[in-house]
Amino acid sequence: MAKAWGGRFEQPTDEAVERFTESISFDARLAEWDVRGSKAHVRMLSEVGLVTSEEAEQIERALDEILQEIRAGRMRLSPELEDIHMHIEHALIERLGDVGRKLHTARSRNDQVATDLKLFVRDAIDRIVELLREVQRAFVERAKRDLETIVPAYTHLQRAQPVSAAHYWLAYCEKFERDRQRLLDCRRRVDVCPLGAAALAGTSLPIDRRRTAELLGFADVTANSLDTSSDRDFLVEFTFDLAMIATHLSGWAEEWIIWFSTEFGFLKLPDAYTTGSSIMPQKRNPDVLELIRGKSARVIAAVQQLFVLLKGLPLAYNRDLQEDKLAVFDAYDTVRSCLALAPAIIRGAELQPDRIAERIEEGFLDATSLMEYLIRKGVPMRAAHETVGRLVAECERRGVRLADLPLEALRAVDSRIDEDVYQVLGSRNAAMALRSLGGGSPAVVAERLAEWEKRLAGADG
Ligand code: ARG
Repeated sequence: MAKAWGGRFEQPTDEAVERFTESISFDARLAEWDVRGSKAHVRMLSEVGLVTSEEAEQIERALDEILQEIRAGRMRLSPELEDIHMHIEHALIERLGDVGRKLHTARSRNDQVATDLKLFVRDAIDRIVELLREVQRAFVERAKRDLETIVPAYTHLQRAQPVSAAHYWLAYCEKFERDRQRLLDCRRRVDVCPLGAAALAGTSLPIDRRRTAELLGFADVTANSLDTSSDRDFLVEFTFDLAMIATHLSGWAEEWIIWFSTEFGFLKLPDAYTTGSSIMPQKRNPDVLELIRGKSARVIAAVQQLFVLLKGLPLAYNRDLQEDKLAVFDAYDTVRSCLALAPAIIRGAELQPDRIAERIEEGFLDATSLMEYLIRKGVPMRAAHETVGRLVAECERRGVRLADLPLEALRAVDSRIDEDVYQVLGSRNAAMALRSLGGGSPAVVAERLAEWEKRLAGADG
């Protein structure tokens, strides 16, 4: 097959080289965006008089047909045509002859592939942002159900203080909200059109870059053709944002795996989202959560892969950049599949309130509550801490909880303690008292929950 650069060469490309350099096996998925970019490009070319409007119409129509064929899986993919750009252009020339040969006027595959990728990433961001919303909705629904359930909260995986279970669910909403905001911020930098940078230096032809950008819905055009030809920052940024999401999902998955264990027994996962064992009949395994946790590895690795790919590249385009897609596509597909599964698991899981309540008074979850009671009675914080520490040790000796200590025993360590101390002891009392802004009491969480419901129902929801 004649090469696009055939004019200068005396020998055909070695077949092994063709197999080695091809990217069609992974960039075929850019077809939609490639056609979108080409249609805008040729429309602009006709407006500035580089092709006639009849030629532009012919090309646009043919591009649509070619895309239909690709969608229907009817395009033969051949390594000697290297990549999706050449495949589409080749199909166009087959159909239109010399008219098809005009499409690539004032353009290079370098600005073309950058444009395709930006269009792809812009759409990908919109998808992920929507999927994140679904995950948030699922957590918010749970939060309504579980508001009054008090669970232990942990630091170092040691029992710390009691909070509303809904506080946990809204914690994940906050994390995923930052992820959404990060993506929307990244989108602003993606939304700048590379087309017209041509190979690396721009062109002597009278193109109208702003018009192409407008046709493609870009907010702006890039300002330096050398930078444009080499820039893949937006891919690193996008992939980092995905890695952050994957990390959040992984932490959540780990937490639920622990909560689902017999040792914890806090949570039952829906049958449809657990699997059995081929040898141990009693088993129910949280494989989906484990894989959400496990798949985060490749997303995090993708960020590294892109950095290593980019570091040390001189300006402008280098063929190394072809490899960028592998990392980005895999990270995107991975996060998308995790986010798509998460809401059903979040909604379908059942807390086990009886099981949680059975042991909620273990671990002195109300110790901090008692310390703050003493502070309110005028005891300096460090002294109060010391006093409660001694009381906890006393409880451990007696094998009882703080709320079981008789008033005399409490007053023996500090005479400022009164009968009203029993209103702050016990996990429920302790949880109810956590009323500072952002705190874990059901009352505060209910307020934040109302804000979440409003936000998710709102225009940007
Ligand atoms: N397949 C190439 C890529 O993905 C397209 C750009 C090729 N440019 C070039 N000068 N060989 O990067």
